[in-house]
Amino acid sequence: MSKNMILEVEEEVLHKISNILDELGVEGYAIGGYVRDKLLHKKSKDIDIVVLGKGVETAREVAKRLNGVSNLVVFKNFGTAMFHYKDKQIEFVGARKESYMRNSRKPIVEEGTLKDDQCRRDFTINALAISLKKDNFGELIDPFNGLEDLKNKIIRTPLDPNKTFDDDPLRMMRAVRFAAQLDFTIYPETYEAIKKYCERIKIVSRERIMDELNKIIMSSKPSKSFILLLKTGLLELIFLELYRMHGVEVINGISHKDNFYHSVKVLDNIAQRTDNLWLRWAALLHDIGKPKAKRFDPDHGWTFYGHEIIGAKMVPEIFKKLKLPLNEKMKYVQKLVRLHMRPISLVEDTVTDSAVRRLLFEAGDDIDDLMTLAEADITSRNDEKVKRYLANFKKVRQKLVEVEEKDRIRNFQPPVSGEIIMETFGIKPSKIIGNIKTAIKDAILDGKIHNNYEEAYNLMIELGKQAGLTPVSDKHKPANNEK
Ligand code: CTP
Repeated sequence: MSKNMILEVEEEVLHKISNILDELGVEGYAIGGYVRDKLLHKKSKDIDIVVLGKGVETAREVAKRLNGVSNLVVFKNFGTAMFHYKDKQIEFVGARKESYMRNSRKPIVEEGTLKDDQCRRDFTINALAISLKKDNFGELIDPFNGLEDLKNKIIRTPLDPNKTFDDDPLRMMRAVRFAAQLDFTIYPETYEAIKKYCERIKIVSRERIMDELNKIIMSSKPSKSFILLLKTGLLELIFLELYRMHGVEVINGISHKDNFYHSVKVLDNIAQRTDNLWLRWAALLHDIGKPKAKRFDPDHGWTFYGHEIIGAKMVPEIFKKLKLPLNEKMKYVQKLVRLHMRPISLVEDTVTDSAVRRLLFEAGDDIDDLMTLAEADITSRNDEKVKRYLANFKKVRQKLVEVEEKDRIRNFQPPVSGEIIMETFGIKPSKIIGNIKTAIKDAILDGKIHNNYEEAYNLMIELGKQAGLTPVSDKHKPANNEK
């Protein structure tokens, strides 16, 4: 009898695979994230299976004999193959020993034992295996006390961490990511090795780094990982603009807040309210212009005037550098960074309809996300202040609903087009057309006229006359119009 723990394996597919492997005379184990998540009582969609022998050939045979398999995909370069079975993605690999060249993450691969394969894995909690052999099905194979580390919430490498990270520096990002995602602590020796090897992150592709960073941003308390990135030296290497937010300057005994810690706190706050990755990015970047905008004024202390405009300008460069999409997602983040101070300024003034209309006009359909960001931005330690701001924001939200119902500004389209202006006054494209359109828009936003065609048309006639124009056509005149 084995002294190891036997786990109950609910996944029907693993029972079937176990039978097939037995027929084929191949030894196999479920390993990695699936076993870790199972022990943490979390569902995982991917199951990695390591076999003693050829991974790809075994996957082909299993796929043939298992009813209901769809699209076997072979990754020749990695010696792995995967297929889908019901809602699960199952990947096969042959047990291997690996050694690495210094300048690449690509290993030189040799066949190995199960233990060799477990040794080459990143963390003890990811090196746990479950036997699929008939005679000890479900047995947990745990040569590095991964179970103990899972219980104690520890991230630790199975081998000397210097070797593990030197071999594959992406693992440093993974360690930091798991810390936030699972709420684990990095074991001191493992942590020291990350500090020592952080420069090695330079050989990892941007795309892989960003996958990890996005997973960090989507975790429930991302600040934990960001603080680790800062302290290990990784942040400076992978995201310089965010790194530069860190630090406090003191002049004449006056200091400002540390904008790095503030930003990651705002990210934590927004993580409680939304799973929208890009809204979370906006939270992380909302103050990114502050280091450039920072001034010390003897009368007013530290100021950051215009940081939201500077920050918005930085967003495309940052997205480009980080290989994030340069599409409407970037524009959305940029817009939220540019507008993030606006709801707060509304709270400070008396909330006029006109100010609310202007905000609705600029934010459009993103107004709710902008309010969520502004609320998350309140990180004062003074509870009274936080309560007061949040109560005021409630009023602003209420006002936004009222004004929108009345004036429909959210998806504002100018009621009078340039074409209409040109045809009415018989003029060619010129600057005056833009001036009239802007004056009409401002009149609507300031509440001087209502947001409808008739009032806009009348104002257009008036403005044209003031500019010395005479109407030559009443083709666009609304019905029942006096003017
Ligand atoms: N692995 C590793 N080093 C890496 C990536 C992965 O040793 N740089 C090993 C780990 O044993 C890991 C397994 O490969 O558990 C599967 O990797 P992957 O599917 O990327 O990650 P998971 O651990 O399953 O977790 P997640 O899906 O959250 O990334």
